Amino acid sequence: TTIQRALVTGGAGFIGSHLAEALMKQGSRVTVLDNLSTGHRHNIAHLGDGVEFVEGDIRDAGLLNRLAEGCDVVFHQAAVVSVTLSVQDPSHSCEVNDLGTVRVLDACRRNGVGRVVMASSSAVYGDDPQLPKAESMPPRPMSPYAVQKLTGEFYAAAFGGLYGLETVCLRYFNVYGPRQDPSSPYSGVISIFMTKAVAGQAPTIYGDGSQSRDFVSVRDVVQANLLAATQTAAAGRVFNVGTGHFIRIHDLWTIIGELAHTNLEPVFAPPRAGDIRESVSDIGEISSALGFRPRVELRQGLADTLDWY
Ligand code: UD1
Repeated sequence: TTIQRALVTGGAGFIGSHLAEALMKQGSRVTVLDNLSTGHRHNIAHLGDGVEFVEGDIRDAGLLNRLAEGCDVVFHQAAVVSVTLSVQDPSHSCEVNDLGTVRVLDACRRNGVGRVVMASSSAVYGDDPQLPKAESMPPRPMSPYAVQKLTGEFYAAAFGGLYGLETVCLRYFNVYGPRQDPSSPYSGVISIFMTKAVAGQAPTIYGDGSQSRDFVSVRDVVQANLLAATQTAAAGRVFNVGTGHFIRIHDLWTIIGELAHTNLEPVFAPPRAGDIRESVSDIGEISSALGFRPRVELRQGLADTLDWY
C-alpha cells in the first residue's frame, strides 16, 4: 500500500519532521500542520516544496477540517511533549493534548480519513516495577502528560467503535536523533548530553545515574509509523515502539563522552521529582503483528546523531 496523501500534525517538530521527510521521499503528498510552539521551520526547510507547510493549531477545528480532506493517513504528532511542563501547567497541556487530539480525530472521521496514527508514550506505564513494559499491563499514569496520552488512546478506541475510524496508537519509549531540540531544561537527555559534550561542559546526572531507559532512534520510530499506517493488522491497536534494550544514564554519558572525545566527570544532583527509575519496552507485539525490527544500534545511532550537534 502506498500513501497518496498524508497530514502530519507537529510536522515541524523533531519526530514529525523526520516522518514528513520519509513520506515525501516515498512519493506521498505531505502537508505539515504546526503552530511552531516547539517546532521550527528550519526542521523542514530542506524539504522545499516537497511538503506544504501550514502554520496553525490543532485546536482549530475549521482548519483541521480543511486539511484532513482527501488524506489517506493522518499522523498525529503534535503535543505539549514535556512531562515537567504538564506538571507545571496541567490545564494548558490538557487543552492541547486532549482537546487537540479530539479535534484531530473528529476532523478525520468527518472527512473519511483512512487511518490515524497517533503518538502515545511509554509514560502511560508509570513506575510499574514489572519489566519489560508490555501493552497488556494496566497503565499507571503519574503525570498529567501521561493521563492525556492515555486519554488520547481511549478516544481513538471510542472513535473506532462509534464511527469506524481506523486508529493506531504508538507508545514511544525514549526517542533520540538529529533535530531533537536541546534548548529546554526538559529536553531529552541525549540532546542535552550531546550539547554538553560538544561544548566541553560537564553534564548533570539526576540521581546516581543507575536509572535505565530504552532509547530508540527516530529512524526506527519513522519505520514504526509507516508500518502502522499501511499494515491491515495494525488497525485499532496500541503498540510499544522501543528497542527492547535498556542502558543506564551513567553508561549513556560514558559512550557519548567517548564519541565526542571528552572524559568529563558528570555532576550529580538529586533525582528529578516524578522520575521513573527503570524503563524498557517489550516489542513482541509490534514485531509479530507488523514486522517491526529496530535497525539502528544505539552506539551507531549516537555517533550519527552527534554529527548534528
Ligand atoms: C519522559 C517520558 C517520555 C516523554 C518524555 C518527554 C517516561 C518513561 N518517559 O521521558 O514518554 O516523552 O518524558 O519529556 O515517563 N537526565 C539526567 N540529566 C539531564 C537530563 C535527564 O540525568 O540533564 C535523566 C533523567 O533524570 C531521566 C533520564 O535522564 O532519568 C531520561 O530523562 P529524559 O530524557 O528527560 O526522559 P524521560 O523523563 O525518561
